[in-house]
Amino acid sequence: MLDANILEQMSEYYEKRADLHDSLMGYTSEAKTEKLMAPILRRCEDYIAQRDVLEVACGTGNWTQLLAKRARTVVATDINESLLEKARCKNYPCDKVVFRTADAYKLGQLRGRFGAAFAADWWSHIPKSKVPGFLKGLHRKLRPGSPVIFVDMLPNKYLHRMFSHYDDEGNLIHRRNVPGGGDYYVIKNFPTEQELRQVLTGIADDVRYREHLALQRWILTYRTKSRQKTA
Ligand SMILES: C[S@@+](CC[C@H](N)C(=O)[O-])C[C@H]1O[C@@H](n2cnc3c(N)ncnc32)[C@H](O)[C@@H]1O
Repeated sequence: MLDANILEQMSEYYEKRADLHDSLMGYTSEAKTEKLMAPILRRCEDYIAQRDVLEVACGTGNWTQLLAKRARTVVATDINESLLEKARCKNYPCDKVVFRTADAYKLGQLRGRFGAAFAADWWSHIPKSKVPGFLKGLHRKLRPGSPVIFVDMLPNKYLHRMFSHYDDEGNLIHRRNVPGGGDYYVIKNFPTEQELRQVLTGIADDVRYREHLALQRWILTYRTKSRQKTA
């Protein structure tokens, strides 16, 4: 069973390390992030060009900046207001980006429907038991046939050092420290291509999975079904 407290711990962990996020991730400027992520952006470009994009768990807005240069509009969401505050301080093309506080598991509370969805470094934090529900909620916010893009991390030695244990449902749990802010248990899963494809069976078309080893990321793209079931 999922530890009832684990989602709150993760949210608090990111809130506490909001000031450190950009430097820890190597997001030092928009130009550098654009250059760093160029190989991934090339894979995503066609899916977001001139669309109304919903971004989930946008954090401090680094990917939001890159999306905004390509999309028609971006509604960038995160559960943590402190991260959104930092995101709002960055530069975006005029009138294209709106930030909203939203829990990724309660996207139904968000106004509007969108033509594409994007999330970076988010899927790895979803408990396995919550993935189908999260996807259902996300797809309901999208028009039929909308492209969806997930970018996330491949395992590496640095992340491996944080390993703590597996929980009862098989989630990999990290013990992470925020300098001056204490220790937190955070889910960090590394799903295989097969696992990703399996959970999308019947709810997605045109599923593509690629790995970019130099950036230690996987990229998953697909389209929601042209006609979604309402049940
Ligand atoms: C690894 S960071 C990724 C941030 C950003 N996408 C990036 O790539 O820099 C994970 C983000 O998930 C957010 N988060 C945690 N729990 C959430 C939830 N239930 N709903 C929405 N966002 C959540 C955190 O606040 C944090 O910004």
